[in-house]
Amino acid sequence: MKCVAIKDVKQFEVTEMNEPIADGQNVIVDVKKAGICGSDIHYWVAGEPKGLVMGHEYCGVVTDPGSRNDLQVGDRVTALPISPCGHCEACLTGNPQYCPETWTYATGLSLTNPGALAPKMAIRPDMVIKVPDNVSDEEVAMVEPTAVGLHAIHLANIKVGAKVLVVGGGIIGLVSAMFAKMEGASYVVVSETNEARGNKAVTLGVADEWVDAKDPNMISNLMTKTNGGFDFVIECCGNAPAVSSALAAVKPGGKVILVGVSLGPVSIPTALAVTHEVDIQGAIAYTKTEFQTCIDLMANKQIEVLKFVDDVVTLEGVQGAYERLTSGTDSAVKILVDPNK
Ligand SMILES: NC(=O)c1ccc[n+]([C@@H]2O[C@H](COP(=O)([O-])OP(=O)(O)OC[C@H]3O[C@@H](n4cnc5c(N)ncnc54)[C@H](O)[C@@H]3O)[C@@H](O)[C@H]2O)c1
Ligand SMILES: [Zn+2]
Ligand SMILES: [Zn+2]
Repeated sequence: MKCVAIKDVKQFEVTEMNEPIADGQNVIVDVKKAGICGSDIHYWVAGEPKGLVMGHEYCGVVTDPGSRNDLQVGDRVTALPISPCGHCEACLTGNPQYCPETWTYATGLSLTNPGALAPKMAIRPDMVIKVPDNVSDEEVAMVEPTAVGLHAIHLANIKVGAKVLVVGGGIIGLVSAMFAKMEGASYVVVSETNEARGNKAVTLGVADEWVDAKDPNMISNLMTKTNGGFDFVIECCGNAPAVSSALAAVKPGGKVILVGVSLGPVSIPTALAVTHEVDIQGAIAYTKTEFQTCIDLMANKQIEVLKFVDDVVTLEGVQGAYERLTSGTDSAVKILVDPNK
């Protein structure tokens, strides 16, 4: 079957791979929709690992339920893309994101488990979750990034009335801003280097305001607006200027959540964190409960995530979609892939 694999730096190829074989264990699905994630972009930019078939945010229809007796052919599902061992302390206490094996065989993020940029895929049975009929395929493909934002906001523990800055208006930033509002933040600002994305954060209703991260006066302007800094900063970008701006914009004693990922080390002004006693908290992935919560929020129409979806492309359109998402000027934030189109 056809698939999209990493070929080189910023280069995919549409190539061939073996179809997954039903083995009585894995759940086999036809992929309906797959999301392109900012983390995938890091691998595409690096051009490594070569041959990786990405796609860890998806909706599928079961063609073989494997060992899942509770599933039937035709059921619509999604899955946590992670590979926790299931028996360490982290796994047994409901925190698979702490398990040392969580990313080792992650679906769409490891060479052993190809992801959703192919018409069919095999999924580890215990990670599969059946989704309700009233949540569309496109929404189901949005569950994973939505859960990342929910986890970050849960860790922030935002108080009603708090002022929140979200650094980076990609999908992770936008859903984090959305949940910050739901938690009762009185003032939510998104900082962006991409004007079109900044405007989008405001027009989609998740931010009260956006600010230009390229403006050298951004921090001093934000200090004036907030009377001394934000209670919470959610860093959803990962590069050095972005993380530095998070430390500069938080108020003394405030909290910074680091969600953005950098594949290499970044240099940041630790003196700001020390002298302001900034509480710095990393955030990775989500718990299984948070993943399910996002499905429930969609089913109950408490969150609207389709507004973040800009386009749906074929496997041949994936290369162009990545170029669009990294242009620095395009307003597109989330592009989905339909590998069976
Ligand atoms: N911790 C986790 O579990 C987790 C999960 C998913 C994604 N991520 C990471 O979160 C980050 C965001 O993901 P995404 O899908 O939204 O990616 P994205 O690339 O679409 O968004 C990043 C945004 O940051 C903006 N930006 C760049 N420099 C900036 C600066 N100095 N100030 C403000 N904005 C700036 C970019 O214009 C872009 O819009 C990525 O690093 C990704 O790897 C982490
Ligand atoms: Zn992702
Ligand atoms: Zn474990």
